[in-house]
Amino acid sequence: MGGKGFDWLRQTGTETLRPFLFTIKGTCGTRSGRGWKGFYPMDNPILVTGGAGFIGSNFILQWLRQETGGVINFDKLTYAGNLRNLASIATDARYQFVHGDIVDRDFVREVLQRHQPSAIVHFAAESHVDRSIHCADDFIRTNIEGTFVMLEEARAYWANLAAAGRERFRFLHVSTDEVYGSLGPGEPGFCETTAYAPNSPYAASKAASDHLVRAYHHTHGLPTLTTNCSNNYGPYQFPEKLIPLTIVNARRGKPLPVYGDGLNVRDWLYVEDHCEAIRAVLSRGKVGETYNIGGDTEKTNLEIVETVCSAMDELKGDAQLFPHKKLVIFVKDRSGHDRRYAMDASKIKRELGWAPRETFESGMRKTISWFLENDEWVREVTSGQYREWMSTHYALEP
Ligand code: NAD
Ligand code: DAU
Repeated sequence: MGGKGFDWLRQTGTETLRPFLFTIKGTCGTRSGRGWKGFYPMDNPILVTGGAGFIGSNFILQWLRQETGGVINFDKLTYAGNLRNLASIATDARYQFVHGDIVDRDFVREVLQRHQPSAIVHFAAESHVDRSIHCADDFIRTNIEGTFVMLEEARAYWANLAAAGRERFRFLHVSTDEVYGSLGPGEPGFCETTAYAPNSPYAASKAASDHLVRAYHHTHGLPTLTTNCSNNYGPYQFPEKLIPLTIVNARRGKPLPVYGDGLNVRDWLYVEDHCEAIRAVLSRGKVGETYNIGGDTEKTNLEIVETVCSAMDELKGDAQLFPHKKLVIFVKDRSGHDRRYAMDASKIKRELGWAPRETFESGMRKTISWFLENDEWVREVTSGQYREWMSTHYALEP
């Protein structure tokens, strides 16, 4: 039993193949969950990388509600990964957490051999554009090198499967609309054939990973699928991103930073709708293809912030904070800030019958309520390293 992940489990485990509870004390507070001594065999689970992050944890929760198979969650638990997101399924026998780094090739190989997944859904990435502007090293390492390792090891694993397993296996790579660059006003949304023009180090690292995925299908026949999605929002999103940051700061009466003139446009999609789209692509997508996913909900950043402020006003909390809009401050623009993203999601709608269930209004209601009801989660993830990042980045008291 080699590899960092299992060693880590061994330290807190028991001698038999039974579940145990573990507690880790880290910079983001104390985390608890369930682990297994060795590994717990499941029938062809899927392997999810990055499953304790925002979209990955929503995906695992939805998977266990909607599907019958098991899930192995392979995550390094960076500042963005939080096992508390998955506390409600910690005792589900169809779920297992493996702590590891996707760049650790030997360990990735070992995990694939041990768990024999029927598919890999690859979410793990450094995901925050602003961080990639300040320091891109981890983006290159995880997003490019890590995806390369996942592809190489998936290829070796897939090549050795029996015929039925080879036929069934899929490698689904989760990517972003940012690889296409920026749109001018009135230009049609990005479609699957739009030329790549990534502008930030984050977008460039995702574009590189998309190209690697494409090449592994083209050259080696690996059964890949790629999804490129627009901006997500919803529960468990790390409060460095616009929507959760605005909700959390508005509640605490802190400044609501808007970059530049606030007129940059993003196409917003509720996270559960993104997860449903990924499940549709995984089960019915055509091997080697890419699918664009979006919410047909273009909003300027100022519209987003004003929506949150109005909702907070209606909740009638601390009267001193009314109207919350007075907390808005215009700050220095993001370097190389993309002006507008919009997705043409007609292919996935037409071919796979997917459509978002939530409107912007219903999705925002759910999201704001979730953040207001889960202040303990917010407090936990906004401690430690995150506070340092915020104070350096905004030069504000976090
Ligand atoms: P996130 O930052 O919330 O979570 C990333 C997860 O990956 C964390 O759990 C982290 O611990 C893990 N991770 C990071 N480096 C790792 C490594 N080396 N090994 C193993 N695990 C590692 O990200 P998210 O917002 O949930 O995004 C998930 C994926 O979806 C990313 O690939 C991102 O590019 C893509 N995406 C995000 C959005 C969005 O709006 N958030 C939109 C489109 C696509
Ligand atoms: O488009 C998909 C992408 O969406 C994903 O690939 C990324 O992983 C995800 O982080 C997100 O990237 P953005 O840069 O669009 O998201 P962010 O929430 O950081 O910013 C949204 C917009 O709001 C952007 O125009 C910058 C602006 N902004 C952001 C923050 C954090 C502000 O005006 N103020 C802020 O404090």
